[in-house]
Amino acid sequence: MTDIISKKLESKIDQKLASKAKRKHLPDGFKKGKVVNEVLDKPTVMTLYKMITDHIIAYVNGPISAGKESVVFWGVDENDISVALKIYLVSTSNFKKREPYITGDPRFSHLKKGTKNLVYLWARKEFRNLTQCFDAGIPVPEPLYVTNNVLAMNFVGENGVPAKSLLVSEVDGDDYRQAITIIKDLYHKAKLVHADYSEYNIFKTANGLMVFDLGSAVDLRHPNSNNFLKRDIYNISRFFVKRGVTVKDQDVLFEEIVK
Ligand SMILES: Nc1ncnc2c1ncn2[C@@H]1O[C@H](COP(=O)(O)OP(=O)(O)OP(=O)(O)O)[C@@H](O)[C@H]1O
Ligand SMILES: [Mg+2]
Repeated sequence: MTDIISKKLESKIDQKLASKAKRKHLPDGFKKGKVVNEVLDKPTVMTLYKMITDHIIAYVNGPISAGKESVVFWGVDENDISVALKIYLVSTSNFKKREPYITGDPRFSHLKKGTKNLVYLWARKEFRNLTQCFDAGIPVPEPLYVTNNVLAMNFVGENGVPAKSLLVSEVDGDDYRQAITIIKDLYHKAKLVHADYSEYNIFKTANGLMVFDLGSAVDLRHPNSNNFLKRDIYNISRFFVKRGVTVKDQDVLFEEIVK
């Protein structure tokens, strides 16, 4: 029954999109000539369309980054403010890879079966993690909205160009100290372990480091949270060592955080 309704709705939106696409100014919110639909399936396009009618964004301006499991698009809201749209891909998603970061987290104990539900859950999980961090005063992109597989957050960067990650930045001892402060604050203030903490998932901005990509982050009560924390410490320490920065002993640091 719900299937029939959703099919009807889908075809209605399809018709609407098709008729609007014929117009010159593309009021469907997608800029002409930009590749948008090639990587996005129909339900995702519908979700973006809903975000436009809900006034979350005015239009989608094109892709910023394409990963295997998610793509990030540059969106613009009605006040001309840039928004980052992280879209989790349903078709390519790999349940096995994500499962260890969900099962065991008491916040997600009532888990519905099915890939699509899991992808939607993953988007909500990242949103929730971002919110916990933002509320705790940890430097993360401000979460704005989540629906289905699309997460909207503050755009970090300028003119559609994201801020540089640590990987492509000059780094020093002060950056190391900030990176460790973030791990500590995640643990003590947001009660989270990032679980994918690395030079790839930290921006270096004019105002200091900012962590993002929090889909994997787990609650401290997750049975593996300490192992994830050790791995986070290991990965970030290795990066700074490679860049010639003196780092603290990893075991000492771990004990200091969990004590
Ligand atoms: N809030 C943001 N503002 C600007 N750019 C962003 C923002 N969030 C992500 N990006 C850009 O998109 C890229 C990918 O983002 P992210 O790391 O969250 O996804 P991912 O690595 O594909 O996720 P996963 O590791 O779960 O596959 C980032 O490296 C960054 O360049
Ligand atoms: Mg990433």
